Amino acid sequence: MRFDVFTLFPGMFAGVFDDSILQRARAAGLVEIFTHNIRAFTRDKHHVCDDTPYGGGGGMVMKVEPIFEAVENILGVEAQARPPLILMTPQGRVLDTAIARAYARQPRVALLCGHYEGIDERVRALVNDEISIGDYVLTGGEIPAMALIDAIARFIPGVVGDPGAPHQDSHATGLLEYPQYTRPLEFRDMRVPDILLSGHHAQIEQWRRNQALGRTLERRPDLLAQANLSETDKKVLRELGWQDNQTR
Ligand code: ADE
Repeated sequence: MRFDVFTLFPGMFAGVFDDSILQRARAAGLVEIFTHNIRAFTRDKHHVCDDTPYGGGGGMVMKVEPIFEAVENILGVEAQARPPLILMTPQGRVLDTAIARAYARQPRVALLCGHYEGIDERVRALVNDEISIGDYVLTGGEIPAMALIDAIARFIPGVVGDPGAPHQDSHATGLLEYPQYTRPLEFRDMRVPDILLSGHHAQIEQWRRNQALGRTLERRPDLLAQANLSETDKKVLRELGWQDNQTR
């Protein structure tokens, strides 16, 4: 899968994509990431990418022309033939597993990072989607773009060593993940639960499911309304005090 990122700060992406799982995925040819400096597509002597807002007020606004130039140069002038272009903005739909999974099925995706206090509204004529990584405002769209690429890349087959893992993780199942342990068996009076040493796979699976249910009920009860729950799950949850308010 190929990602094209339009940004004023391509240098911010280096460390993140040059390490760990994303680096391995790139080396294996599973993921290609190209960053494009919007400033390189300005036509004026000073390479200006921002200007003061019409109507007054503080702050600077990202200019429309360099962004159109960059996108049309790299992705082509034919809008129908372009890969989807996502604007990273706190005004977008909030990123979740379903969005990441859906984009992982695309061969190519482009991301546009906003900066300064805003972006000329006419840029929206270029974009196909707007995504936020949460209800808070960062200084720019670069960190959100990295988060989105990472979240999508995990769903590309082969990127994560265990192909089942992304589908078992917190949120992918609709529940938070169960607790995990590795050696040592005991650390500062904290011991690994005996059930995990028992070798009874069915009982371990049941314990993990119950832990995931209990943890979700405690921390994110809002997720339970959308989760795929069996009758056994519901029984476990009711014993933990869950009120299934018969809305489903
Ligand atoms: N740019 C600034 N804040 C953002 C956010 N929360 N999500 C996506 N892009 C952003």
